[in-house]
Amino acid sequence: MSQEFDVVVIGAGPGGYIAAIRAAQLGMKVACIDEWKNADGGPAPGGTCTNVGCIPSKALLQSSENYEHAKLHFADHGIGVKGLSLDVGTMVARKDAVVKQNNDGILYLFKKNKVSFFHGRGAFAAAKDGLYQIAVEGAKKEQLTAKHVVVATGSNARALPGADFDEDRILSNDGALRIGEVPRKLGLIGSGVIGLEMGSVWRRLGAEVTILEGLPTFLGAVDQQIAKEAQKAFVKQGMKIELGVKVGAVKATKKGVTVAYTDAKGGEQNLSVDRLIVSIGRVPNTNGLNAEAVGLALDERGAITVDAECKTNLPNVWAVGDVVRGPMLAHKAEEEGVAVAERIAGQHGHVDFNIIPWVIYTSPEIAWVGKTEQQLKEAGTAFRSGTFPFLANGRARALGDTTGMVKMLADASTDEILGVHIVGPMASELIAECVVAMAFRASSEDIARICHAHPSLSESTKEAALAVDKRALNF
Ligand code: FAD
Ligand code: NAI
Repeated sequence: MSQEFDVVVIGAGPGGYIAAIRAAQLGMKVACIDEWKNADGGPAPGGTCTNVGCIPSKALLQSSENYEHAKLHFADHGIGVKGLSLDVGTMVARKDAVVKQNNDGILYLFKKNKVSFFHGRGAFAAAKDGLYQIAVEGAKKEQLTAKHVVVATGSNARALPGADFDEDRILSNDGALRIGEVPRKLGLIGSGVIGLEMGSVWRRLGAEVTILEGLPTFLGAVDQQIAKEAQKAFVKQGMKIELGVKVGAVKATKKGVTVAYTDAKGGEQNLSVDRLIVSIGRVPNTNGLNAEAVGLALDERGAITVDAECKTNLPNVWAVGDVVRGPMLAHKAEEEGVAVAERIAGQHGHVDFNIIPWVIYTSPEIAWVGKTEQQLKEAGTAFRSGTFPFLANGRARALGDTTGMVKMLADASTDEILGVHIVGPMASELIAECVVAMAFRASSEDIARICHAHPSLSESTKEAALAVDKRALNF
């Protein structure tokens, strides 16, 4: 017997579980299907983000930062730490406990909002009379009937051709988050977001880290003034970053991995490491969805084709998050999930793709929203720029972390803020003010005239706004 729902969501990552909750809040009968299993085989909703992405990476980033602070920086405060030790097993177990709290939190939220959760793989079975039949393959088989379907099946790590992930020597983000001991030498391919975050974790814990990047420019999508500052800091910390390389054969043995590559000058090189993390981007995941059964259209990258409102080629079938176009970010997936639920309910859900913030949780953190200087130049937009270094910020000095700056870009004639770029302490938190400002189409003068608490890092944002008009007060 088929169970009937207004909305069936396939995937309980940040896109799917949030869509399910919002649809339930709006009075619809909702089911959410997810196949992720925890170590005991039980359900582990939350997707990549909760299980092998945002949450566990931030847990390990925090632990490794604490360790590095104790090792290198506590002495500056007059705090001596004798016999400092590291137990990677405990660190990884703590990370697993944080993940579990999040999995359990989502199951609780499903209950609270009366979302029916099905643990198993969801697949299109048929479309009939304007309704969709969804088969669930889990511990038992179920058949669901849906008026609306929201596909939120996420993405998987892209493998390097000829170097399949074995999660022992050649690691995706999954294996990178559960290495049992600190590798003496760690290699990473790709100096994108995962490369830098995971490279930072294991470098802080003692690994000798080398990142091989194909592009000649470091963090090419980031404002280049900010990217250069970040690169300087990472190199100073001991991270080896080689740009413009061409990776050749990768060979894994029981003991380690060798990577043959051509460096930027055309020289043939070999890198030997204990473990290799491949972080060269992610691919949309529609495995097992049986999209063909209903004729759901995919693009040439394998992503589900959607319009700006997340509508697919099929009536009442929607898709959100990593499985569709746009940045692969948890908060982008969530925003799309909310907007789709609201559209199904006849409301006017909206996502402003121009002001989705990005954060790289390294130290220094890198965060930005809106246009970069290079994008504005390319578009021929006249702009004014203001920067303020954390070196001149009292709170940053008290923290003992004065790396980096806030950079604000504003339209030359209207003064509307067009982009804000931050490298430095707590950039992840500071960027929120800038996103709010841009959502309200604030000018740099608006920020400059707002009272910011002293001493706070946020004063640097205000000073960068003042600097747009060449009247910073503390620099
Ligand atoms: P996912 O989170 O991938 O969830 C998809 C879910 O669908 C999974 O649970 C999967 O099991 C399930 N599923 C797939 N197919 C089926 C099926 N047929 N039936 C049933 N279930 C199915 N983003 C940030 O914004 N901030 C960060 O700090 C951040 N850190 C990251 C760190 C790492 C190491 C990685 C890999 C990613 C990180 N991301 C981060 C990106 C973020 O994880 C993704 O953008 C986000 O998880 C996408 O959400 P989603 O709901 O689209 O898909
Ligand atoms: P990425 O797209 O950020 O970086 C991939 C890097 O690999 C690029 O610099 C690219 O030029 C390079 N590359 C690609 N092919 C290569 C090759 N053959 N040889 C050498 N270099 C190569 O992808 P990444 O780091 O895998 O992360 C995937 C996505 O996950 C991110 O784009 C982001 O959307 C999300 N994510 C977000 C985080 C956050 O918000 N803090 C943290 C981690 C991941």
